[in-house]
Amino acid sequence: MIHRKTADQISLMSEGGSAVARILERMKDVVKPGVPTSEIEMEADRMSRSLGIVAAFKGYLGYPSSICVSINDEVVHGIPSRERILEKGDIVGLDFGAFYKGFYSDAAVTLPVGKLDEKTEHLMDVARGALDRGIKAAVVGNRVGDISHTVQSHVENSGYSVVKAFVGHGIGRSLHEEPQVPNFGEPQWGVRLKEGMTLAIEPMINAGSDQVRVLDDGWTAVTADGSLSVHFEHTIAVTSKGPRILTLNSMGGE
Ligand code: MF3
Ligand code: CO
Repeated sequence: MIHRKTADQISLMSEGGSAVARILERMKDVVKPGVPTSEIEMEADRMSRSLGIVAAFKGYLGYPSSICVSINDEVVHGIPSRERILEKGDIVGLDFGAFYKGFYSDAAVTLPVGKLDEKTEHLMDVARGALDRGIKAAVVGNRVGDISHTVQSHVENSGYSVVKAFVGHGIGRSLHEEPQVPNFGEPQWGVRLKEGMTLAIEPMINAGSDQVRVLDDGWTAVTADGSLSVHFEHTIAVTSKGPRILTLNSMGGE
């Protein structure tokens, strides 16, 4: 069943979501060549404590870390490690969820390590554009498939593919709620969007084929063909005034 949220519940989610945004923004200063991905985890934990939120992913279905760190051909769910060192030209997907006053919020960004080549910049732009367009389609009266279709067409018209094996989701008192929000599909398909629905929209886009596989660690999803993958995500609310992004930094600074 789909749980619609009241205005008060949506404000709680936006408070938690603001902490998520601040943590992800801070990582622009942490992500540098030579830095082990375990440093990202330590900073996420430090900021979670100072902002008064609980890192939602740690322990979720046995996931071992507070933040997912997925480099280059890693699509999602990479595990931070002291042995994994960031290199110039890498792209680093960071996915973080907060639990705050009974509600979850979830967002992801992909950050460059130093300067990227033009092709990779383009892939990043298309992924950001896909999320933007998906969010804009999250209006009352549209259906889930309108979000899915707009994401998929933007990505495929730009020459890339959308991952099918992982999908966006409803979010609220649980990290994953109904409905699923695939990054592919037909317009006017699926449930109708109503005021109070809260969704995590999260395009994962590959430079090459859409196929993915999971590494022996049981978590890290990588592209089957080794091509680069980019992930952006926001938690949003469907409101009478249009989509409201809940994972935005409403404070500035730390
Ligand atoms: N944003 C992802 C999701 O919605 C990451 C959470 S999965 C976890 O599924 F297991 F790593 F927590
Ligand atoms: Co998510």
